[in-house]
Amino acid sequence: MNELQKFYPVTAQAKAHTFFDKPKYQELYQQSISNPDQFWAEQANEFLDWYKPFESVTNVDFHKADIEWFKGGQLNVSYNCIDRHLTERGEQTAIIFEGDEPSDTQNISYNELHEQVCKFANVLKQRGVKKGDTVCIYMPMIPEVGYAMLACARIGAVHSVVFGGFSTESIKARIQAADCKVVITADESVRGGKNIPLKANVDAAVTECPNVHSVIVVERTGADVAWNDETDVNYQQAMATVSSICEPEVMDAEDPLFILYTSGSTGAPKGVVHTCGGYLLYAAMTHKYVFDYRDGDIYWCTADAGWITGHSYIFYGPLANGATTLVFEGVPTYPDAGRCWDMVERHKINVFYTAPTAIRALMGIGDEYVLDKDLSSLRLLGSVGEPINPEAWHWYYEIVGKSNCPIVDTWWQTETGGILITSLPGSAGMKPGAAGLPFFGVQPVIVDKEGNEQDGEARGALVMKGSWPGQMRTLYGDHERFHQTYFSQCAGYYYTGDGAQRDKDGYYWILGRIDDVLNVSGHRLGTAEIESALVLHPKISEAAVVGYPHDIKGQGVYAYVTLMHDEVESEELIVELKALVAKELGSFSKPDLIQWAPGLPKTRSGKIMRRILRKIAENDLGTLGDTSTLADPSVVEDLIERRLLR
Ligand code: PRX
Repeated sequence: MNELQKFYPVTAQAKAHTFFDKPKYQELYQQSISNPDQFWAEQANEFLDWYKPFESVTNVDFHKADIEWFKGGQLNVSYNCIDRHLTERGEQTAIIFEGDEPSDTQNISYNELHEQVCKFANVLKQRGVKKGDTVCIYMPMIPEVGYAMLACARIGAVHSVVFGGFSTESIKARIQAADCKVVITADESVRGGKNIPLKANVDAAVTECPNVHSVIVVERTGADVAWNDETDVNYQQAMATVSSICEPEVMDAEDPLFILYTSGSTGAPKGVVHTCGGYLLYAAMTHKYVFDYRDGDIYWCTADAGWITGHSYIFYGPLANGATTLVFEGVPTYPDAGRCWDMVERHKINVFYTAPTAIRALMGIGDEYVLDKDLSSLRLLGSVGEPINPEAWHWYYEIVGKSNCPIVDTWWQTETGGILITSLPGSAGMKPGAAGLPFFGVQPVIVDKEGNEQDGEARGALVMKGSWPGQMRTLYGDHERFHQTYFSQCAGYYYTGDGAQRDKDGYYWILGRIDDVLNVSGHRLGTAEIESALVLHPKISEAAVVGYPHDIKGQGVYAYVTLMHDEVESEELIVELKALVAKELGSFSKPDLIQWAPGLPKTRSGKIMRRILRKIAENDLGTLGDTSTLADPSVVEDLIERRLLR
């Protein structure tokens, strides 16, 4: 551990403003582990309103991958996020919206949110959407994305939000995989002054989705878009004709709330399924305690609704707590690198939650954009998506937080629904780069290669013993893959896919993925998906993708490609290959570096040795390891010769 990673005690501000000091955290944590049923029953009754009380708390068998929480309980997520707040806080702002242009702002009260969501739910009903149907949402970061999610929840439809940066091909694959019959989109989205043609992307996708009978289009920019009278529905016009009364559907705790596709190490993206009761409880409870959220706080999470962070910590968690949550359409560098801090000053943000990649990018542009703003409203800072390097942590802590705001480094995954590891702000000091201690009810375990639990200070694979309410329940349409991916590597535990180290104080340091998943700017990318896109090019016979350290993105995408016989290397082809990946997957998946590889290092059974490719990409040639088991060891010399980073 170096000087930059020294221990920072609980800040005076966090001490004065906390739900849990250290003894309280320890006591409650113990209770949550020794008597989980009682602990979670109490939380479920404190945080949520139920139409019908649950009969049992947990029914979990990790060997069979069967996970159920709050069986027999009935509730509605949209009721919990909106209706129950109306008497007390109907006029309070639920959503502060700020568009791409700083002058474009709007406050939406809980009353207004209620009206919009009820109407949107009626629009969906009008188009035949029923409980259990799947609905695809491909939207900009505007309030309507939240209305759409909550409208689905209100009528019991299952939403599948697809990030607005995904390409036509990715939308198509996700619509087909979840068998969505309705798509909600906008004419265009606007980010950083640029317009992105969402409707046109959907149009191209649905030509091969015969089951889609309705495309609901929100007018965002008013751009001229192609129109199909049979399927396309103008959102604003439809909203004007429907009633603003819509009773929430009574849902079982274990009914699905949403599907969210995420990349895995192999195969097509996985449709992670979260259910109504456990997920909402876990999102609400972690939101309140991790961010020390109090009534009246103004809270801003910079994520996109297309990722789990947007689901849990822009919409579901904060709204279940009756919070004021900010929805931002733009990017942190437009109109300049002071945008976030300008927004903190104007909206008097108290809690700010972002990703290390954004912090690193802003840090690189200079302190002056921060120092001329009044950031005195800030009380707490959060980080998510990847390990935060100590340099970025210090900049965030000192320059943004003025050494006064605790930083919660929150470790979790799409699959976990909410934060599993983070030190609660008032209960434990901080170590820059460490996620910290487990949340209530969470039992992280480090195992060695054989799956044996390691005690005390240890390093190995991170797995979880026992369930927590926000855990995913299955992969949509493929429970066997769910079992295989998460419960077969280490029998009896949930396998996270991350490596971690536990130090003498019990803090967890996340070391990154131990499978072939990349983490680029906090986005999860599957190497297999990028490879499949590259080999679609007629001139490419084979591709292998690995990650390499990247100053801003955390990891960059490094692709090795092998040409078909008789084809020649060229700069134009590199450009074409990058464009091909952007078209197939979205531009955020584009390789940063492409190296020609006349041969790839393979075992005699034909398996590509990515370990070697990673080392060559990183220019770390001292530890290539044993290459003698390769079918043709000479290819390694050739790849080293051609390496791009030196
Ligand atoms: O490798 C871990 C990394 O992001 C992965 C989960 O990605 P995703 O499902 O897209 O969810 C991202 C937002 C929750 C994890 O397996 N990760 C996430 N948070 C952290 C992190 N790595 C280190 N520190 C974190 N705080």
